[in-house]
Amino acid sequence: MTTSAPSQVFADRIGRIEVSATMAVSAEATKLRSQGVNLVDFGAGEPHFDTPQHIKDAAIAAIDANFTRYTVVPGIADVRKAIIERHAADFASDYALDEAIFTTGGKHALFNTIQILVDHGDEVILPVPYWVSFKDIIQYAGGKVVFLETSEAESFRITADAIEKAITPKTKAIILNSPSNPAGSVVSAEDLERIIHLAHERGIYLLLDECYVYLNYAAKPVSGGSYTFAKEHIVVLGSLSKTYAMTGWRAGYALASKKVIANLSKLQSQQTSNATSIVQKAAIAALAGPQDCVAKFRAEFIDLRDYMLAKMTQIPGVTCTKPEGAFYVYPNISSYLGKGGIKTATELATRLLHEAHVVTVPGEAFGTAEHIRLSYPVTKQNIDEGTRRIAEFLAKLT
Ligand SMILES: Cc1ncc(COP(=O)(O)O)c(C=O)c1O
Repeated sequence: MTTSAPSQVFADRIGRIEVSATMAVSAEATKLRSQGVNLVDFGAGEPHFDTPQHIKDAAIAAIDANFTRYTVVPGIADVRKAIIERHAADFASDYALDEAIFTTGGKHALFNTIQILVDHGDEVILPVPYWVSFKDIIQYAGGKVVFLETSEAESFRITADAIEKAITPKTKAIILNSPSNPAGSVVSAEDLERIIHLAHERGIYLLLDECYVYLNYAAKPVSGGSYTFAKEHIVVLGSLSKTYAMTGWRAGYALASKKVIANLSKLQSQQTSNATSIVQKAAIAALAGPQDCVAKFRAEFIDLRDYMLAKMTQIPGVTCTKPEGAFYVYPNISSYLGKGGIKTATELATRLLHEAHVVTVPGEAFGTAEHIRLSYPVTKQNIDEGTRRIAEFLAKLT
């Protein structure tokens, strides 16, 4: 009798990825909260503001007007017009209607862009520390992640020189996320320009995750999309989630060459079809409406960044680079590793959650072993209480 090898139930590709660490942390926090535990939550990567009223009103009006049917896959012309006009006004980019697609969040745009560009064995350069999903999404597509180490002493700065050294004949794409999650590092305008030249001249795709582009505290926001000469190799990945406090709405987009957008649209046609019709109307209100909410959120984030940074760096043994954007601090907690039986950042984050009742995300999720990430869009009272609990917990470790 011949025995056949046991068949594998799940496809190889699903085994190449892990549950998003930030989502896993928030699931664990939700469980504890349901048991009545009073947590201070520095885990969630989202603004604490409500979505501005005029955006909510546009969605309500869309429902009332029965704008509730399928739309064309890349989004109605008006939403694509709002995307390209906003981007052109803020960054002097020059995209046409068929060079834009509206997606179910920025992550959707990123996921699909990698699916249409990256094949088995293709290399994708990813600066460390990286937002947790980049690595898994590349691996899901069969790509090889080429980690680009950065130096904490230089605020995790990404330079064109370092990118150039990492390029090989197999490099298909480079991911840049500026300002970055988790460290809030910003690529300088000079480096960005050099990286664009490098990529364009070698036929490498530059995927620019501009999710936090308006939350740049160091300088005037810049977008790679302004370098119109390199449009063929640039994909701008945008999101309304953080800019307009719309995380739950799922509103994102990609701006790229006509060929790239046609392929994104083809994939989306076999996947989600259009992003939610009423969200498209809300997105138009967000992008084409008054922008004072963006400036107001930004000012408040800067204030909270300074407050959180001061509190964390007052804790003995904790050091932290000054984030130049986004809304996270990424303190180095290495002086506590080896104390109280804690060997890794993951163990520290787990103990902070269960014993100090503070939610953080361990650095391993972002590719570094000596940090934890704290998201600071919370009230100052929460920052006071959370950092007090962390300091008290760490002080007891011997
Ligand atoms: C760097 C980065 N890119 C993309 C996203 C995805 O945003 P969304 O899918 O909500 O638009 C996030 C969310 O945390 C992020 O931090």
